[in-house]
Amino acid sequence: MLRTRFTEEFGIEHPIVQGGMMWVGRAELVAAVANAGALGFITALTQPTPDDLRAEVARTRELTDRPFGVNLTILPSITPPPYEEYRQAIIDSGVTIVEIAGANPAVHTAHLKEHGIKVIHKATSVKHALKAQQVGVDAVSIDGFECAGHPGEQDIPGLVLIPAAARVLDIPVLASGGIADGRGLAAALALGADGVNMGTRFLCTQESSIHHAVKEKIVANSELETQLIFRTLGNTARVADNEVSRKVVEIERAGGTFADIADLVSGRRGRKVFENGDLDAGIWSAGLCQGLIDDIPTVAELVDRMVAEATEIITHRLAELVAAPVSADRA
Ligand SMILES: Cc1cc2nc3c(=O)[nH]c(=O)nc-3n(C[C@H](O)[C@H](O)[C@H](O)COP(=O)(O)O)c2cc1C
Repeated sequence: MLRTRFTEEFGIEHPIVQGGMMWVGRAELVAAVANAGALGFITALTQPTPDDLRAEVARTRELTDRPFGVNLTILPSITPPPYEEYRQAIIDSGVTIVEIAGANPAVHTAHLKEHGIKVIHKATSVKHALKAQQVGVDAVSIDGFECAGHPGEQDIPGLVLIPAAARVLDIPVLASGGIADGRGLAAALALGADGVNMGTRFLCTQESSIHHAVKEKIVANSELETQLIFRTLGNTARVADNEVSRKVVEIERAGGTFADIADLVSGRRGRKVFENGDLDAGIWSAGLCQGLIDDIPTVAELVDRMVAEATEIITHRLAELVAAPVSADRA
């Protein structure tokens, strides 16, 4: 058992979180994560309407009686979804934990906290993490440059970003980005985090609803096989390397505008990758930790072995370094 402020304050067995994932954060995965003793998030906007979100929460409850949450992601959009209605659906459904990503959490946090809901804010900089703490969130998930999805524009990897955040924040910190195993979990705790948030690793589990070909591609990919798109738009996203992401980067470098890449990056195309396993149909998020992933376990196998490995590292490998006598020839 690894107990931290996060496990205590959120009532979760293990300090491991499955972050929101568009098209992926559905009942089966979230319930499997909850049943494994970790914290999973349904992704609100994967559901076409707020009523569908209500139904997805109900479906998740049929599969688990343990705590789980809902992720609400607020990103620049040509036709913004009705965020307030999704927020109301979350409140009506009696969900107790919400992950907010992508924008200043002030407005949503105030409403959610009025209903006793705990809020985790996902940030990519110490400045934004501090701001989130100021507006009253209960924990911060801080995404380093390694992460899948949106790493922000400052390019600070977790080895620096996590301790930089942990040393100034009073609320629990979840280290996010690049974590795929017990070594990453132990390292995050050593850096001052109270738990870890993972996307790519949970994407590649038995219970994630995506096509098997995508999971096999993640296993085959190394840490070199991602692209950073939307750099020129100030809205960087780390996605898997494929024909489409390479084309988007090429158009951006040649001075193209959003209109020139809009079709290539559409959600409709990206969804096809996950549904049909057509790896070059569109863009799909994946992080650098692909290079550390070489199997497709069940969620329970993954969580159990991460906790066992981190515990072994902390109690044996690292502890033995302290206890080891200096050998005669090194003295
Ligand atoms: C396929 C996929 C979709 C994602 N979609 C979202 C999303 O809709 N909202 C969000 O806040 N984060 C999203 N993320 C980011 C994850 O929640 C998490 O922060 C990130 O994956 C952590 O980095 P890692 O992949 O190295 O573990 C997504 C990640 C993946 C892999």
